[in-house]
Amino acid sequence: MKVYVFGATGTVGAPLVNSLLEAGHEVLAATRKPGEGKPGLQYVDASMPEAMKGADSVFLLSPGGLPDQHSVLKPYLDQARSIKPEKTVLMTAFGVEHAPPEAPMRKLELELADSGLNYTILRPNWFMQNFNTYWIQGILDDSKIYFPAGDAKASFIDARDIGAVAAAVLTSTDFNGQELGLTGATPLDHSEVARKISEATGKNIDYVNVDPEDFKSSLKQAGLDEAYVELLSGIAAALRDGFAAPVTDHVKKVLGRDPIDFDRYAKDYASAWKG
Ligand SMILES: NC(=O)c1ccc[n+]([C@@H]2O[C@H](COP(=O)([O-])OP(=O)(O)OC[C@H]3O[C@@H](n4cnc5c(N)ncnc54)[C@H](OP(=O)(O)O)[C@@H]3O)[C@@H](O)[C@H]2O)c1
Repeated sequence: MKVYVFGATGTVGAPLVNSLLEAGHEVLAATRKPGEGKPGLQYVDASMPEAMKGADSVFLLSPGGLPDQHSVLKPYLDQARSIKPEKTVLMTAFGVEHAPPEAPMRKLELELADSGLNYTILRPNWFMQNFNTYWIQGILDDSKIYFPAGDAKASFIDARDIGAVAAAVLTSTDFNGQELGLTGATPLDHSEVARKISEATGKNIDYVNVDPEDFKSSLKQAGLDEAYVELLSGIAAALRDGFAAPVTDHVKKVLGRDPIDFDRYAKDYASAWKG
């Protein structure tokens, strides 16, 4: 099949593209900087929804850091409506089904469900990869994970599993019309995460339960958009309240194997935290 992937070079998109290519599919990989492709892989201009034409299936996610995911993805959903691919897969986030209908991600989900397209919605929990991207500076500078989670647990998921699930769902009629919450198998709190990264790196890394207001200030100081700071603070509060702890079996149902566990993730990414 030929699969259009929006966000193709990112945390989920890159492993998704790999999974599709490994399975012998063709990929139209949307990026702001289309370069030369390779057999099976064609980069297309992410600012042009029309580049989706010719795709048999379509994957959509809104890049991190942008608070209004509806404005970002609406033109691509409209384009999908016009080309009617065999399958459209939208990735949002764990728990979005509980958001009000006007919340940007929920609005997208409802529009896709109402579009008449064959679709699947993927709602992943917090990514393991946040620890080697968003939260890495504290680990490199101070050997600390700064986050306002208290001792709440989250069933973190490896983005490689999200990519593999998306590839499977994009290229099959299974799971049509379904909305799948995706999690790892074992909920962990941030102290447990710090211990596992310590074990994998040989560094002594601690978790610091920062005050939510200090967390907000640090995000603003880092230059994040004000609306995104509010969004991220809200979902961090939901984690702190225990809403990220549930475990689903959807990764196993789709892939026929257990999700990647945190020890394996920490081992695979250990070099990132060694500086
Ligand atoms: N992190 C988590 O724990 C978590 C949990 C659940 C759900 N999510 C959801 O996951 C989504 C993000 O997925 P991701 O981390 O895979 O995406 P990502 O890596 O942040 O971004 C994907 C790609 O989008 C392009 N991009 C980045 N910033 C952009 C911008 N300002 N405008 C246009 N394009 C831009 C980049 O590609 P080019 O540079 O090649 O154009 C990037 O590689 C968000 O919707 C978030 O809500 C995240």
